[in-house]
Amino acid sequence: MRKPIFFAFTLLLLTASAVLRADEGMWLPSLIEQGRIKDMRSKGFRLKAQDLYAVNQASLKDAIVRFGSGCTGELISDQGLLITNHHCGYGQIQQHSSVEHDYLTDGFAAMNRSEELANPGLVVSFLVEMKDVTDRILSGITPGMTEQERAGIIEKNKRAVVKAATEGNLYKASVEALYYGNQYFLFVYEVFEDVRLVFAPPSAVGKFGGDTDNWMWPRHTGDFSIFRVYAGKDNKPAKYSPDNVPYVPKKSFTISLKGMKEGDFTFVYGFPGRTYQYLHSEAVRYIQQKSDPHKVNLRTIRLNIMNDAMAQDPAVRIQYAAKNASVSNAWKKWQGEMKGLERLGTIGKKQAFERQFEAWAADKPEYSGVTAQLAALYDSLEPYAFARDYHTEAVMAIELIKFAGTYADAKDLKPETLARLQEAAAKFFKDYVPAIDRATAKALLAEYVKNIPAEFRLAVINPAAGIDSVFDLSILTDSVQVKNLLAGGDTAIIRQTIDRDPAVQAYRQFSEIARTKIEPTYKALNRQIDEKYRTYMRGMIEMRKGEHEFYPDANSTLRIAYGKVDGYRPMDAVYYEPNTTLEGVMQKDNPDIYDYDVPAKLRQLYEAKDYGRWAVNGTVPVAFIATNHTTGGNSGSPVLNAEGQLIGVNFDRCWEGTMSDLEYDPVVCRNIALDIRYALFLIDKVGGAGYLLDEMKFAK
Ligand code: ARG
Ligand code: GLU
Repeated sequence: MRKPIFFAFTLLLLTASAVLRADEGMWLPSLIEQGRIKDMRSKGFRLKAQDLYAVNQASLKDAIVRFGSGCTGELISDQGLLITNHHCGYGQIQQHSSVEHDYLTDGFAAMNRSEELANPGLVVSFLVEMKDVTDRILSGITPGMTEQERAGIIEKNKRAVVKAATEGNLYKASVEALYYGNQYFLFVYEVFEDVRLVFAPPSAVGKFGGDTDNWMWPRHTGDFSIFRVYAGKDNKPAKYSPDNVPYVPKKSFTISLKGMKEGDFTFVYGFPGRTYQYLHSEAVRYIQQKSDPHKVNLRTIRLNIMNDAMAQDPAVRIQYAAKNASVSNAWKKWQGEMKGLERLGTIGKKQAFERQFEAWAADKPEYSGVTAQLAALYDSLEPYAFARDYHTEAVMAIELIKFAGTYADAKDLKPETLARLQEAAAKFFKDYVPAIDRATAKALLAEYVKNIPAEFRLAVINPAAGIDSVFDLSILTDSVQVKNLLAGGDTAIIRQTIDRDPAVQAYRQFSEIARTKIEPTYKALNRQIDEKYRTYMRGMIEMRKGEHEFYPDANSTLRIAYGKVDGYRPMDAVYYEPNTTLEGVMQKDNPDIYDYDVPAKLRQLYEAKDYGRWAVNGTVPVAFIATNHTTGGNSGSPVLNAEGQLIGVNFDRCWEGTMSDLEYDPVVCRNIALDIRYALFLIDKVGGAGYLLDEMKFAK
């Protein structure tokens, strides 16, 4: 019975013409052919849709990977060479670093294949195929069903579709909802597990500008690192082995050295994480006025404590480098997002749209009233969402509590489990400073007590006062005690020690609160909210049929965003040009400021103007911005020219435009990309690994 409706829905999407605001959107590659290709071509794109995505022949999609779980990477040779961001490989670079071999500070260059470093746990995934499976996923759904029954059937259908797609092959697959469950797509991936580190510039280049320049333009960061994908002798995925050989991809990118100038067509092809373009005004209000400000405050507290400790001790600086970067990253973004939403008046615009929608829906019972229902649901949700924010941003931000969770949640103590716990402990203690964590815990829990009503908190103990004794008495702050315990082998003793440990007990109490008092209602309300969005989204599409093509929110699936190289005006009287050069690096150079301490080698090359073949107008290009609509997850994505050649590697967004996850504004939303020529210059002239260029292909 539902079928005709979904059939109609798909048709709507396909026939809708394009009157989107300029350059907004993250499009599904397999649908470019029926949808965006005309607009892309009219803006300067020179290839065909099948060059971007095809199943029966190699296409550009075969040169792109999801790198780890949160980034993108692309193949730049037919011997498995891959480029992504420095900040995407940061965890791996740090794992290989110590005070003696400080690859974070000095950079790393494998001088031959045998020097490339293995990274257990790191995987890259190539998309083999994507396709619309809406009919199969919704088969068996009837109009009278409850949401829960519906969800059950969808789960079952998803499992069947995934099973069929992975039967008799080594692929991994998943089915993802688009347009709030109005459409479903199957994504099939080939996942490689042997991915080795080949090159990283010094952090003073790869993270130049640090968290001071993060999210900002003009930017001078050489944010890239190079890995190599290895496969078994049959070119198929294989577990790490010294016998593995470089993977030969179906496709790798040709690199363009021509550069880019204002107005040039460009596109980004990668794995954007999450966007929320179609949110109700009440959800935006919660984010802008409540959630973001509180989360920013909690992270300011953490950063202040961490920064002090890191400034005092170089060993601590290395230990907390990756943690600090990840805490500060969202912290800064949320501040830009709040400002951007306020400047755009997003809440007011959404309210106006909701009124317009209801006027249109007045004679359509299927849709009428849905925006008021959403408002009411958000009203009920808010205290739960807020308590949940504190659970993740305050409670679980305490490293000890989170670590205790690995022990608390261990289902058994079989030898494999003990080995896993050992491993978790080794990783944890390598970068753990109890004094930092204790000070952080006290400060965070004081906020938690102040802001979260008693009904969502620990009932008996005052956690802010009790946390000192948790740190005093837990053995989980001490690597030797943990090691001895696990090595002891007597599982009864291990179990008892774990169960009695105050950090484990604290973890269990906090989790219990979340599980019993927060999660059930939070989830139940969200199920209702999802159902309303499904209706609302379908209604929006119907309402604007023929005048507006809606793209699905990002959900970590492969997308194409396109636009042009373009500067912007961040404020009155200021125009930002779209390209930066080495001149800007040297203008920021300051040996006394950690974030701006240009490495001696680069300084020398600059003094001598020794740029070799990388000189452009007497300097070296560094980065550029464009109007491509991107988000977190697009880090490392290829930035391509009209011919589909690699001109850059995406690594950031401009701060004034970070609200683009909720509302894209063509006036200030810009993605930031590394100019590929800067990466090549650094590999060649600073890293002394010019031999890597021999395997790359350059456009003539
Ligand atoms: N803002 C970029 C992104 O969201 C880069 C983050 C890493 N750099 C840093 N300085 N923390 O991932
Ligand atoms: N740096 C981000 C990432 O890791 C990309 C910036 C953005 O959010 O657009 O994906």
